[in-house]
Amino acid sequence: MAHRVRQLLGSWGSGQRLSRPAVRRRATATVATALLVWLMPIAAFGADYFRQIHGDALYEPSVGQEGKDVIWVPTPDVLMQAMLDVVKIQPNDILYDLGSGDGKIVIGAAQRYGIKGVGIEYNPDLVLLAKRNSVRAAVSDKVTFIQGDIFKEDFGAATVLTLYLLPELNLKLKPIILAMRPGTRVVSNTFNMGTWSADTTIEVQGGRGYFWVVPAQVEGRWQLGDPDLKPAAELDIQQTFQMLSGRLLLNGESLSILSGRMRGEAIAFTYGTRTSRGDQARGTFQGTVRAGALTGTLSDQGVERPMAGRRIGQEP
Ligand SMILES: C[S@@+](CC[C@H](N)C(=O)[O-])C[C@H]1O[C@@H](n2cnc3c(N)ncnc32)[C@H](O)[C@@H]1O
Repeated sequence: MAHRVRQLLGSWGSGQRLSRPAVRRRATATVATALLVWLMPIAAFGADYFRQIHGDALYEPSVGQEGKDVIWVPTPDVLMQAMLDVVKIQPNDILYDLGSGDGKIVIGAAQRYGIKGVGIEYNPDLVLLAKRNSVRAAVSDKVTFIQGDIFKEDFGAATVLTLYLLPELNLKLKPIILAMRPGTRVVSNTFNMGTWSADTTIEVQGGRGYFWVVPAQVEGRWQLGDPDLKPAAELDIQQTFQMLSGRLLLNGESLSILSGRMRGEAIAFTYGTRTSRGDQARGTFQGTVRAGALTGTLSDQGVERPMAGRRIGQEP
């Protein structure tokens, strides 16, 4: 266990000097999260889960064995299905599993939905096992397994990303994921993404998963108008991950964005006034942000107007 703690501490990296109590606190947190990776399937399926044979005659990995940054524990079938359900797989999706273990998620998605998938796994024996498993599952033409480090390999082609790592690894991946194509769907077994709250939480038989859609970046000032861009309104948006706030200047009136959010390229907000007696909604905007252009419909006091928008001022 001490070795695992040292190894996981190493993953926080960067030669940062910590006081002894801070090291002890981090070590405790690491052991606790490593245990969670183990305990979640035990709680759901009992100790037999660990005795199941997951390998073949050439290689038999043991559940809980060391990995580069996190141990190997396969995602239980029932949670894997719930994770695949929540992302609503489409025929053209390309699924990447980061730390793909025996390949079960990539192979399962190819079998059930016929989609392409890529697994990135550091342990070369697990990579070879995943390849053999894909042959046995008759999906070797759809899937690829790469031996490599998830922090070095490129997974930018993914439209769906699956994770079963550790909280600090999710946090390290967060800026990379947020820079991916808007609309990329991300689902994580057990661990969340800190301040980036999930769009959906899934719960199954003792297990939990978190689901996000990478939001397009819309923070900044926009001029909104009829499709010929006759100025009609101005938007000043503040964005925290998928959540939006800010102001809408409409016919000289300054209104608040009362609730707003992104879901990939889709933008939706209500606007109105904030008073001491509460929010008074006056209208909604629903649209799409693609390639720096905003289009949608403004519904102001029941009157609908198609709108197009362009940025004014600098993108953040
Ligand atoms: C908890 S297991 C999850 C396996 C699989 N994704 C699943 O859900 O069944 C984590 C996997 O990540 C692998 N791993 C750990 N650190 C890694 C790294 N830096 N790069 C690639 N794989 C890594 C481990 O070997 C292990 O197979």
